[in-house]
Amino acid sequence: MPRRKLGRMRVSPPDDQTARRYLRWMPGKRLYENPGSFPQISSPSLFGDHRPLEIEVGCGTGEFLCHLASQNPDANFVGFDIHKKSLYKAVRNAASKDLPNILFVSADFRLVYPLLPDSSLRAIHLRFPDPGMKPRERKKRLFDRRFLDESFRSLQPSGRLLVVTDHQEYFEQMLTLSIEDGRWLTSHGVKTHSPDEERPVSRFERLWTSRGRPAFWITLQKPAV
Ligand SMILES: C[S@@+](CC[C@H](N)C(=O)[O-])C[C@H]1O[C@@H](n2cnc3c(N)ncnc32)[C@H](O)[C@@H]1O
Repeated sequence: MPRRKLGRMRVSPPDDQTARRYLRWMPGKRLYENPGSFPQISSPSLFGDHRPLEIEVGCGTGEFLCHLASQNPDANFVGFDIHKKSLYKAVRNAASKDLPNILFVSADFRLVYPLLPDSSLRAIHLRFPDPGMKPRERKKRLFDRRFLDESFRSLQPSGRLLVVTDHQEYFEQMLTLSIEDGRWLTSHGVKTHSPDEERPVSRFERLWTSRGRPAFWITLQKPAV
């Protein structure tokens, strides 16, 4: 499957006003050297309120997160991605719905860890993370021990890390890491359609399921106490 072709898209940047409303830039060098110069990833800093906060790591074109935001006006949503054009599409999507409770951040999520306050997030969504085509890319997969540690630290009690992938080998690796970690209440499964019927499918989920690929899911819940 030519995964890279899926990334090709024509899209221009949003106008200044729309970008100011929906897009934040966190360039890697500054994020690495001086994370304190950026706002914390929290509802008070980013939205000026105290609503529950959910994030999506690698949100792509943002369809999934925009849908969640429109269905859950009592919560805030932040999507992170490193691919500019996908984020432009995500921003356009949010603006077309005039969503007041969503933001997109251009950043390598692994550099954002210092900005995640302890016990603060209601959910972390990781949908169709890149499995990497080459062995050296596979070594850099997002879901690793550090990702699990930072997710555990930043989720509120009973908060959930929700993972979906079409890639069986990556799924098995993530499941093994999750179970070995030992701190989570873990459930998992496989569905030929959406793993959570009432939820929308993201761009990649639509692409893979239209080709008859299964969706493997893992839900990791942080214990209540
Ligand atoms: C296969 S796409 C899935 C997009 C979306 N979740 C979906 O289901 O349609 C994976 C996304 O993760 C993003 N990504 C990969 N590594 C990342 C990182 N370190 N930080 C933020 N985003 C990342 C990619 O740019 C890409 O948009």
